[in-house]
Formats: sequence, structure tokens, C-alpha cells
Amino acid sequence: MDFSLPLLPRLILPFLLVGGVLANIMTTDISFDESYEVTWGFYHVLSLNQGRQIQLSMDKSTGSGFASKLNFGSGFFHLRMKLPGKDSAGVVTAFYLASNGNNHDELDFEFLGNKEGKPITLQTNVFSNGIGNREQRIYLWFDPAVDFHNYQVLWNEHQIVFFVDETPIRVFKNKTNVGVSHPSKPMQVEASLWDGDGWATDGGKTKTNWSYAPFKANFQGFDISGCSIPHDSNNILPCYSPKYWWNLEKYWKLNSIQQRAYENVRNKYLTYDYCFDKPRFAIPPSECPQ
Ligand SMILES: *[C@@H]1O[C@H](CO)[C@@H](O)[C@H](O)[C@H]1NC(C)=O
Ligand SMILES: *[C@@H]1O[C@H](CO)[C@@H](O)[C@H](O)[C@H]1NC(C)=O
Repeated sequence: MDFSLPLLPRLILPFLLVGGVLANIMTTDISFDESYEVTWGFYHVLSLNQGRQIQLSMDKSTGSGFASKLNFGSGFFHLRMKLPGKDSAGVVTAFYLASNGNNHDELDFEFLGNKEGKPITLQTNVFSNGIGNREQRIYLWFDPAVDFHNYQVLWNEHQIVFFVDETPIRVFKNKTNVGVSHPSKPMQVEASLWDGDGWATDGGKTKTNWSYAPFKANFQGFDISGCSIPHDSNNILPCYSPKYWWNLEKYWKLNSIQQRAYENVRNKYLTYDYCFDKPRFAIPPSECPQ
């Protein structure tokens, strides 16, 4: 390859030569370093396949994590992940967006490990203006430690939707009209592997068994479909522009096929929803069904 070509022609050239599909694969299959950097546990991060895959590991000394170089104000974010296998009780693998500073916003996928043969739980949470406590939990319809799956989160002015592959598993609508703040601070995309045995498995009763360490989580898919915001700015308004495809009307609510798939997940796989936790919230929070 002729590296004297600037980046754009290098990406467009295959498109002209062999057509759209391959070009799409090539432009989305980018290396980790183009959009992310390691943030902690440096010696526990392994780059594979020319940076197309990253392996985080955790042992008794430390876990590890990475974050996007840029901040974002809207987008359709994803990572392909394969979770630690065998006995992963106590181990948390996380993929999330988070803002810095006080009263933070955060959108979480947290995979809570389990004893071998017992299901891993996927917990999601939404923090807005510092208010969290919005946990929902599901079991998955596959073993997330066996293969890579695509975990995605759509974030625009109208809704936040968590997806497992193409299936929506959680919807957080913009309900500013009833006084619920909607995430609106620049956020970084982050992923990490850490010891959560104080709470993650059976409410903290099942501890991490370090004889299975190091625990390893693998990640792919480092392209980011997001509206980036300069590090010195808090102005998110440009990110609501319809020039970004994830802001188009099609992404303001689930379509009927997605709605059915979402209801199916809630009927079959939901194990916990804070909205229905009466001892915790005698009156359900405003964003919940009233
Ligand atoms: C929430 O929706 C309202 C009304 O449509 C809109 O004006 C506002 O910008 C949205 N808020 C955020 C933070 O996206
Ligand atoms: C940890 O795993 C080892 C190996 O399977 C087993 O012998 C040991 O009993 C386990 N420890 C606990 C506390 O479960």
C-alpha cells in the first residue's frame, strides 16, 4: 500500500475498485489506536491482530480499561465483546459512556460474572445530572463468553436505547417534560474489566475465585459513530443536528419490529427493574410507568 496517499483517498480507493460492501468493512474495521487509548492497567492490555482486537485482563493486582480519545454529544456507539469464560463470579466487564466532573451523566452496560454454568447478568443503568439508581437486569439468550456479540447504545435528543446485537433491551425516553433530566453532557466511551465481588454476584455473597485468574475480556469494533465535541467545550447543541444519521426521525422511537423484540426480551429475560422495586421506591421515579 502506498502510504503517501492521504487518509481519505486510501479509504475511498477500495470503494471505487470493488464496491460498497467491502469498503464499508474496511472503513469500520479500524485499529484501536485510531479512536481509543488505554487508561489504566497498562500491563494487562494486549493488542491482537494489528490492533483490531484488544484483550483486557485482570488478576489480583489490577484490572484494566480503555477510553475514547474524544468526547461525544450524540451517536450510535458500539463495541463487540467476548466476556471472560468459565468461572467469572465477582468479575465485572463494563462498556459505558460517561461524562467527567460533578453531576455526571453515564450510560452503562455491566456484565456481572458468575460461577461456571450459571448465567451472566447484564445490568444497565442510566445516570443523568448525577442521578442514577436506575438499574435493570436481564439474562441473555446466549452465552456471552463463547462468541463476540455487538453491544450498542443509541443516544440522541429523543431517546437512549441499549441494544444486544440488533435487539433493543432498554429504552430511556427524553422525559424532560415530566422533570426527568436527559443526559446532555459530553461523554467518553469507556470499557473496563474489574473486581466487583463486593456486589456483583449474588449481591456480593459469591466472591471472585482468584485461582481462575487472569480473567480475560476481548473487544473488537473500534469505529465510533458519534458527534465529537472539543475537549474545552460543553456545547452539545451542534450534536442534535439532523446531519447526523442517528438524529433522524427513524431513531426517535422504536419501530414496530423493534418494539415487539423489546417486549419479548422484557417478558422473557428481565430479572430486575428498579421501576417495580417497591421497597426501594414506594413511588416509582417519574421516568417509570406510573
Ligand atoms: C428533550 O426534549 C426536549 C423537548 O423535545 C428538547 O427541547 C430537549 O432538547 C431534549 N433534551 C435533551 C437533553 O436532549
Ligand atoms: C476456587 O476454584 C478452585 C479450582 O476449581 C477450587 O478448588 C476452590 O474450591 C475454589 N474456591 C472457592 C472459594 O470456591
